[in-house]
Amino acid sequence: MINWKNQELKQLAVFISGTGSTLDNICRHCYEDNGLLKNIAQVTLVISNKVKVKGIEIAKQYGAIPVIIPYNQTMESREDWRERINKNIPSDIDLIVLAGFDQLVKVSHIKTVNVHPSLLPKFGGKGMYGSRVHQAVLAAGEKITGCTVHFANDEYDQGEIIARKIVTIDKEDNIESLTEKVKQAEREIYPQAIRNLLISNDLLK
Ligand code: GRF
Repeated sequence: MINWKNQELKQLAVFISGTGSTLDNICRHCYEDNGLLKNIAQVTLVISNKVKVKGIEIAKQYGAIPVIIPYNQTMESREDWRERINKNIPSDIDLIVLAGFDQLVKVSHIKTVNVHPSLLPKFGGKGMYGSRVHQAVLAAGEKITGCTVHFANDEYDQGEIIARKIVTIDKEDNIESLTEKVKQAEREIYPQAIRNLLISNDLLK
């Protein structure tokens, strides 16, 4: 739970669109004993583009402020929506963590990281998310898959790669089992990669 707001810690803003299991994992690592982000970071802000998602409840549970900013393409341009998001990000945020955020987002001046459920550059790009990725991996007859932590930029899954973790594909694997195996790999690699970024300050410049 947040010690509101400890300026000695790095401030994370987490962007979600769904169930928030990635957000939950990041928060656990911030607040639980032996967490990889314990005494290093806190999640002070959670931005969701969806109104009723479990991730919002998870944010509240950890004492982070959930801010809901839906994108309505009939009402505004994508640039205006991004501008609204930018306005809601306090200047003391150190890192933006995408956690299942389903839109391309560009936040000025603050580094943004994402985790993708494949070994990028393979099986990335627009439309490649969730079970679609694992389906494509299995259809291609791959022997290994995994996940990738990367900086987010103007194109889906194209930013500089920070870390990857390999998952072996067994003969019996299907979309469901691969989803769980890759999620487990994400749960390990994402907080570790964020920790590495935060403790080597120059990566955030
Ligand atoms: C993550 O597992 C990651 O692969 C991708 O989106 C998923 C989000 O899941 N970026 P959740 O909403 O955090 O449960």
